Amino acid sequence: MRFAKRLDEVPPYLFAELERKIAEKRRAGVDVISLGIGDPDLPTPQVVVDALAEAARDPGTHQYPTNHGSDELRQAAAGFYRERFGVELDPASEIVPALGGKEAVGHIAMALLDPGDVCLSPDPGYPPYTSGPLFSGADVHYLPLRAESGFLPDLDSIPADVLARANLLFLDYPNNPTGAVVEPGYFERAVELARANDLVVVHDNAYSELCYDGYLAPSFLETPGAKDVGVEIFSLSKGWNMTGWRTGLVAGNFEVVERYRQLKTNLDSGMSEAVQHAAAVALTDEREFPREISEVYARRRDLLATGLQEIGLEVRSPRATPYFWIRVPEGHTSASFTELMLDQASVLVSPGDSYGPSGEGYVRLSLTVPDSRLEEAVDRITKTLVILQS
Ligand SMILES: Cc1ncc(COP(=O)(O)O)c(C=O)c1O
Repeated sequence: MRFAKRLDEVPPYLFAELERKIAEKRRAGVDVISLGIGDPDLPTPQVVVDALAEAARDPGTHQYPTNHGSDELRQAAAGFYRERFGVELDPASEIVPALGGKEAVGHIAMALLDPGDVCLSPDPGYPPYTSGPLFSGADVHYLPLRAESGFLPDLDSIPADVLARANLLFLDYPNNPTGAVVEPGYFERAVELARANDLVVVHDNAYSELCYDGYLAPSFLETPGAKDVGVEIFSLSKGWNMTGWRTGLVAGNFEVVERYRQLKTNLDSGMSEAVQHAAAVALTDEREFPREISEVYARRRDLLATGLQEIGLEVRSPRATPYFWIRVPEGHTSASFTELMLDQASVLVSPGDSYGPSGEGYVRLSLTVPDSRLEEAVDRITKTLVILQS
């Protein structure tokens, strides 16, 4: 058999690798605590589950959904954007449902990039910002995220010849994997850059609803001119504990939204009507749910920060996202520290370099495990590092 070369161009998907490692250990009878994957441990709001169950009983939901998405979900999304971000969106032309943010990232890359084009992708970054463009035959130009610049790419240092070939800029704040939040004025600069270079900005807003200490993350679409140059991908996965439901949306520039829909309708047939109804209920009746979940993560964040600081790790507590982005101790690489944690502490962390070359020297820890497991993980990490230091 012969397979397409595009599959050889990307490394094995990070989380597939991590899942394999956990399964191997667990088969050997080891109790592994996984802080590797950002998959919420708490359930979807009951009201949303009930809405799905009720909708699933209606035979009207059993057929193909419309490829534009249901009116109900698009109206609910417009209402959510108006109330949460003060952004006006036309439900008919500026919103289309997505089967989760990941699907949207991949398909938007395919809708915007031709072979020979360049995609500007943050490094470290969510892996589909690289695989999506590579599957489209485009080249990826990494934009390094450095601690000293608040993990925001330096938009003024992109070489002119790269900008001339670039057609897509991915940004995501609150950021995975660094946990960083955007600084005032940054999105404005991105709009300016896009205007000057005929770039499309795709802001992946997977984490705006998980914020702490009174911080509320903005939408890129709040930025003046944002709708002229780009779109935002929004996901219900993290804020409403709905990773398994595959619910999100693409909103903003009507041409990008339409081209994305056009591509998608050739490849998938959209989101089940019953799931769309449940997602609409989440965005209308459960708007406050992400605030409650954020309080749970804030408590866990403080627990983890205190534990790690006590053993001398350099820790910056995130203001949003369930992620800690931590420098590995002197003498370690991302890979050696990840291995040490798995072998000696039976704690799985994500090696920073798997998010891109600038992630080397870091690991990512996720707060998506119950408090008692997190306490146990801190205890195990502490014991391992104390033995190492003695
Ligand atoms: C930055 C970012 N975007 C998108 C996603 C995908 O979310 P989903 O496909 O579940 O909506 C994730 C998931 O971890 C993410 O970290």
